Amino acid sequence: MISRREFLESAARLGAAAVIVPEYVPRRIESIDSGTIAVNDIHSQRIVEVTLTAAPTRLSLIPDALTEVYTYNGRLPGPTLEVREGDRVIVHFRNELPEPTTIHWHGLHIPFVADGSPFHPVPPGKQLDYVFTIQPGTAGTYWYHPHPNHRTGYQIAKGLYGAIIVRAAGDPLPASLSERLLILSDNRFLPDGSLDFPDLRSPSGRADAENGREGKVLFVNGKIMPTLSIRSGEVQRWRVINASAGRIYRLSLTGHSFLHVGSDGGLFERPIEVKEILLAPAERVELLVRGTESPGSSARLQTLPYDRYVPQTRPGDWIDPRDILALRYTTESPLAPIALPELLRPIPPLDTAQATATQVMVLSQGLINGKTMDMNRVDVRSPLGATEIWQIENIVGMDHPFHLHGFQFQVLERDGVPEPYRCWKDTVNVPKHQTARFIVRYADYPGKWMFHCHILDHEDHGMMGILEVQ
Ligand code: C2O
Ligand code: CU
Ligand code: CU
Repeated sequence: MISRREFLESAARLGAAAVIVPEYVPRRIESIDSGTIAVNDIHSQRIVEVTLTAAPTRLSLIPDALTEVYTYNGRLPGPTLEVREGDRVIVHFRNELPEPTTIHWHGLHIPFVADGSPFHPVPPGKQLDYVFTIQPGTAGTYWYHPHPNHRTGYQIAKGLYGAIIVRAAGDPLPASLSERLLILSDNRFLPDGSLDFPDLRSPSGRADAENGREGKVLFVNGKIMPTLSIRSGEVQRWRVINASAGRIYRLSLTGHSFLHVGSDGGLFERPIEVKEILLAPAERVELLVRGTESPGSSARLQTLPYDRYVPQTRPGDWIDPRDILALRYTTESPLAPIALPELLRPIPPLDTAQATATQVMVLSQGLINGKTMDMNRVDVRSPLGATEIWQIENIVGMDHPFHLHGFQFQVLERDGVPEPYRCWKDTVNVPKHQTARFIVRYADYPGKWMFHCHILDHEDHGMMGILEVQ
């Protein structure tokens, strides 16, 4: 347990303005060094205090080879941070990498100083405490990753990424559903097992810069083609995160459909039955997978062809479906069906009549409104508390997944088609030559918030801008 004095000190290191120190008695302090933090004690604000250390190491990712990687706490993916709405989170971060880094808590609504954006790099050998409170209503699936200027793609490809699961006190889905976390990534290796980062001026380096670096080896939680088991009749809750630099997954499970129940910022109002799901870089989904097949059978989670590319650098094998995970039915007798709720939670609409500005963002190849990012420039200035519409116009022939830090938004329409249902998102894929519109309210937290394409090569080459909320 940390003392109140230590807590205040760690809070102070982050800048007093951003930290509201609650009156509290620490109830549970657990470490994620051994994996996931258990959740119990729903009645008081918990302090979740963890240590994360980024360091180089060597791991076996592909058969018969060791690869030089970067990990959080020696794990790839990093430990899953499992917290509850209302929790006070204190992360003691230590950078043992040979280069500056940060930890960005992708999708969480937290103070600017804790955002881990390029404004707050942690030099090699240094430490930083990230302190924030998990806001009510934000239960969902998030992730953390480095965000240093120009090196985000490199550091994530080296292995630095992990999941954050935020739980609500009252979750509408039955607690009896077993959960699976699937973090999708891809990578590319040289024959000696090292990661392939080509010279930027080489043909493959130029293709990476255009496409976003892709690799032929697909991973789920750092494993190639792992197997999950399910019992006939069982319903499982899957949380899926796309941690790839550029790859868009078009997920389908052979012989099954999904009940799509949630997105980046948590559950929908009601489940939606779908055959497949498009998951762009940084997006998350929550799915219910129903074990509709008979005992002993099996299925494969696949990614189907999806053409996000410009023709000149489209990979030759883009058209091939790829298996990414095996689902094996146990031989046990089928379970009786369980009732699933039809209503999950209300999502109050943000009111377009309240919007006081429309921010137009024109995406071209590598540029937003014709510019690359400048840390000393503010691109958009908005008042704290304002509601605004953002209109993201993609004027080029490849998809760009657009991400805004700090605030969840509601997509209003895509290419003039009203969004069929409401949900909270922080990343929206804008397909080639299409326009998306979303509405956002800067409810809290003044500061400088990045917005960018989440194809990491695009982001690193400056397809990013700054929103200052004040
Ligand atoms: Cu996933 Cu600017 O981040
Ligand atoms: Cu982010
Ligand atoms: Cu892009």
